[in-house]
Amino acid sequence: MLRTLIYGARQIVTVTRNNNEKFLCGKDMHAIGVIKSDAGGLSLMIENENIVAIGTDDAIARDFEGMEIDNKIDASGCCILPGFVDAHTHPIWAGDRVHEYAKKLAGATYMEIMREGGGIGFTVEQTKLATDEELLIGLVARLKRMLHAGTTYVECKTGYGLEWPDELRLLKLLEQARSYIPIGISITYCAAHAVPKNKTAEEMTEDIINKQIKALRQLIDNKEIDVNDIDVFCEKGVYDIEQSRRILLAGQQIGLSINFHGDELNYTGSAEMGAEIGARAISHLECISEEGIRAMANAKTFAVILPHTGYILRIEMPPVRKMIDAGVPVALGTDANPNAFSSAMSISMNLACVLCHMSLEEALAAATINSAAALGISDKYGSIEVGKKADLIICRCPSWEHIIYQFGDHTHIIRYVLKHGEVV
Ligand code: NIG
Ligand code: FE
Repeated sequence: MLRTLIYGARQIVTVTRNNNEKFLCGKDMHAIGVIKSDAGGLSLMIENENIVAIGTDDAIARDFEGMEIDNKIDASGCCILPGFVDAHTHPIWAGDRVHEYAKKLAGATYMEIMREGGGIGFTVEQTKLATDEELLIGLVARLKRMLHAGTTYVECKTGYGLEWPDELRLLKLLEQARSYIPIGISITYCAAHAVPKNKTAEEMTEDIINKQIKALRQLIDNKEIDVNDIDVFCEKGVYDIEQSRRILLAGQQIGLSINFHGDELNYTGSAEMGAEIGARAISHLECISEEGIRAMANAKTFAVILPHTGYILRIEMPPVRKMIDAGVPVALGTDANPNAFSSAMSISMNLACVLCHMSLEEALAAATINSAAALGISDKYGSIEVGKKADLIICRCPSWEHIIYQFGDHTHIIRYVLKHGEVV
């Protein structure tokens, strides 16, 4: 057994809820508990991959007296936070879109660019031209950035292949990436990310349901690839509500959880539809209706808020305050992709606070325990609690809030990132 002690910390951020829920909702989002130590420091003990004890330096030293400790990490002057869980990213692609960024700054909208063959269509073409090696190098480099910015678990979507052989290639590369970098990866199948040039949305819907999802099932059954969720870009001019519903249900039938893009640029009724079919999560929701908020609150469907995207596109932010007050569980992601080119969860939390009116505690809960729950992994990840995996960030700062407050300066604040108890 490998035993690691982190000692001397000034704060350890945990949760103080007194129910067994796997996430924090409504007022409970403030149940981020901070253990502080005025006299002496705080310790956290890890055995193999798991957190086994949290307490003052003195108490932990007493409890583990005489036992062998393999590694010791000095966290004097530091705060220990749970590793961030990014609930929504698109990390596998080739070719950037900086030329479109300039167009958007000059006033072009996301859909105008997409209709002209830019946007996702452009990235699909560039991705097709890249070799496996190039794609893997790009993917691993992005995952590495995330890890160093404190993200220890990330949802990764396919979606720049669209057609089966191309999507299959992205799936295989995502699976391969696991052996190159110790970040947790949850794979989401997102062939319905756009409509390819040679097909209509209806033809593509049929293709995904009758061909792609069948082939995907084989891969999953043969344990070749571990795929968790099914996604669709449900949007006016992309996949309509009925096409989206059919694709999502087909994915659900092969055991995938429903986790999709909805009500982003236009109101489509995605929230209502997703809640009805048992979606675990719906992302974006900038244009959600009051009815949609009620439906998601009742179904306890996660709203995955992506403030980077609203910021880049200069669109209205989702009504997060209303969602939290209504009891919708809220999670956060970066949406890292060639449109919203940023993968730092600390920036996502800052934008969530400033632009979506979330409190610091709500933003942290959304970026950790709730984003873990939005991926179905909060029994093991997303908070510093005894029995959970030791995915941690050790930050050199006077109090934990600095990771959000010092906008964009996370690289100077984060001293160590631990994945499953090991410094990475
Ligand atoms: O979540 N809306 C669809 N998908 C991404 C954008 C991907 C892209 O533009 O390449 C999103 O914003
Ligand atoms: Fe997205």
